[in-house]
Amino acid sequence: MIQRPNRTEAGLPSDFLWGFATASYQIEGAPTADGRLPSTWDTFANTPGKVSDGTNGDVACDSYNRTAEDIALLKSLGAKAYRFSIAWPRIIPLGGRNDPVSQAGIDHYVKFVDDLIAADITPVVTLFHWDLPDALDKRYGGLLNKDEFVPDFLRYARVMFEALKGKVPYWITFNEPFCSSGLGYGIGKHAPGRTSDRSVNPVGDSSTEPWLAGHSILCAHGAAVQLYRSEYKPQHGGEIGITLNGDYGYPWDPSNPRDVEAVERKLEFAISWFADPIYHGQYPDSMRKQLGDRLPTFTDAEIKSIKGSNDFYGMNHYCSHFIKSLEPAPASKDDIEGNLECHFFDINNNPVGEETQSPWLRPNAPGFRHLLNWLSNRYNHPKILVTEFGTSIKNENDLKYPEILDDEFRCEYFRTYIRAMSEAVAQDGVNVFGALCWSLMDNFEWSEGYETRFGVCYVDYEGGQKRYPKKSAQETRELFEQYIGKV
Ligand code: NOJ
Repeated sequence: MIQRPNRTEAGLPSDFLWGFATASYQIEGAPTADGRLPSTWDTFANTPGKVSDGTNGDVACDSYNRTAEDIALLKSLGAKAYRFSIAWPRIIPLGGRNDPVSQAGIDHYVKFVDDLIAADITPVVTLFHWDLPDALDKRYGGLLNKDEFVPDFLRYARVMFEALKGKVPYWITFNEPFCSSGLGYGIGKHAPGRTSDRSVNPVGDSSTEPWLAGHSILCAHGAAVQLYRSEYKPQHGGEIGITLNGDYGYPWDPSNPRDVEAVERKLEFAISWFADPIYHGQYPDSMRKQLGDRLPTFTDAEIKSIKGSNDFYGMNHYCSHFIKSLEPAPASKDDIEGNLECHFFDINNNPVGEETQSPWLRPNAPGFRHLLNWLSNRYNHPKILVTEFGTSIKNENDLKYPEILDDEFRCEYFRTYIRAMSEAVAQDGVNVFGALCWSLMDNFEWSEGYETRFGVCYVDYEGGQKRYPKKSAQETRELFEQYIGKV
């Protein structure tokens, strides 16, 4: 049990860092500017049938050309922090440790960070938000080839640590490795789209590749943290961690012990896959049991660099599901979720939340508080930075300006979620020190294209990418201001 004075029902510390988040491929556009070469996402999005509305990130929000405008927007919304990602193919277009760097690409991000700091906005920088240089995928299989990938990532990380030293208080190595691994190499819904499902892709092996990709990410994360801590942190300060995604789960049938047990397994397969090696030095038992030798093992040197490698826990959280056990399992060797099913309705047909535009997302604010507590208990009360939370809205894209600015559903999401987080902090003693709403603006929502919007600002894609704050932009500010300083 965490001991904390219970001074208020809901509140956040006075130095709480709040703001908004984005990612390079989703907002930047400018795919060939300053020597950028394609990422695996360019290749994937340009393959017919991979993105539901047939779009790609070629223009997106045109943020690469609008940095001043974006910073002014953040400022006008009162943001204290901005989480964005660096596009590896802009820094080392071919990606590898012996390939040339693009000084123009580096200069772009240095100026952007300088400008954020000048505007008094704290930069939270993600190194890898899925846009792997395509050349590395072609050259050696990208994430599947740990021995090549780790030194290449390390070189890229070093270039950015060096360029931005002393300017970035929060570094994030990888965003949502579950998605890069499970969606990219398990079900094939994300780049590079590999899967055993031959109706989706002619190549891939979902029974082994997600675990190999995840293993490479963990090893690269550990190596980058070791580098940062030995060569940059002593002189320049700054903290470094990884961002893991995780939804919360409730048993589909609470009277069935197998469903109750499956909830824990679900969280372990989604979150502990990465968090257990980082906090406990090994993969979770449930995964080792189910996957056997399909789960790679760490060398002593690898685990030495991975264990204890989070200065803070980066938490992406959106929603909850009802969990139905599939155990005893059929021989489903490609079950990346842990031999279970996720449902929006429980055994009595109660919904977990209201429908949104995203096929995987139904809001459930109590799940946020539950998950914050689960993480806090399992990982010994880590410092948590909520690096993403937010929602899409059913049929929002059918609305036109200015009606589209009235996003009451999103306001209610943030009302209930920020309240739940503030209760977790004030009543349960969970150590959350910041939260970044996804997203600053509507953007390229991966395989769902532009039809699914997550922004607190509307982007008019037909009208020159102009940004307009929605009601939720103002609402989030008021909510944070209401809770900050109350614990
Ligand atoms: C998590 C991902 O990090 C982000 O890129 C994505 O757009 C949001 N979830 C919403 O799906």
